[in-house]
Amino acid sequence: MTLLRTVDLTKIYGREPNLVKALDGVTMEVREGQFVAIVGSSGSGKSTLLHMLGGLDRPTGGQVFIGGKSLFEMNDDELTVFRRRKIGFVFQQYNLVPILNVYENIVLPIELDGNAIDREFVEHVVRTLGLAQKLNSLPGELSGGQQQRVAIARALAAKPAIILADEPTGNLDSRTSQEVIGLLKVTSRQFNQTIVMITHSEEIAQLADAVVRIGDGKIVGGMRP
Ligand SMILES: Nc1ncnc2c1ncn2[C@@H]1O[C@H](COP(=O)(O)OP(=O)(O)OP(=O)(O)O)[C@@H](O)[C@H]1O
Ligand SMILES: [Mg+2]
Repeated sequence: MTLLRTVDLTKIYGREPNLVKALDGVTMEVREGQFVAIVGSSGSGKSTLLHMLGGLDRPTGGQVFIGGKSLFEMNDDELTVFRRRKIGFVFQQYNLVPILNVYENIVLPIELDGNAIDREFVEHVVRTLGLAQKLNSLPGELSGGQQQRVAIARALAAKPAIILADEPTGNLDSRTSQEVIGLLKVTSRQFNQTIVMITHSEEIAQLADAVVRIGDGKIVGGMRP
């Protein structure tokens, strides 16, 4: 079953003479439970695509459907609620809340949505990501790799239907990267989650079910079967 679908997605930043066509007609489909890697050189439009997939920013043209629902037909309030219920983000710059400690950051999306925290599951995620000793620390007291792991834990903790991750292993060593991808795969299977992950690493991309190659805002390499 298709969970995520884009139709002719276009994003233009700025205006002439500084116009940038960051996305240029991207049409793609991701099945429920699929783990898709997006690769492409710096500036090719990967983060822009991920932001559109999650409804964080509105495209210049085209559409995104998640579970058959058209994201950009919702108003901003509806979209915010939809995002919080369905999507877990791991941002390239982590986007942790600096005045909240690690634990508070991890459970924030669950609390914002007024849901009960599955403590056992959160503990499992925290342990797997090696954050158990850091729960009371503030993000500013952590290394880049540790902050990245908190961002991953936050995305996983709410068990969203879809996880959109921008270079989730960008700051991790190769062994930790493999472990994080392993955790993503296990939880995605357990909770039937769909994962779309940007990576620079071919090695990491090969762990995905399918690879989408982006160049100059277009899909240039198909999803291998
Ligand atoms: N807010 C913005 N305003 C203007 N131009 C932007 C903006 N965001 C991105 N761009 C431009 O759009 C293009 C695609 O950027 P994007 O961040 O999607 O690339 P990327 O593939 O994620 O790169 P990287 O691997 O370096 O993270 C780039 O040319 C970038 O300069
Ligand atoms: Mg990027």
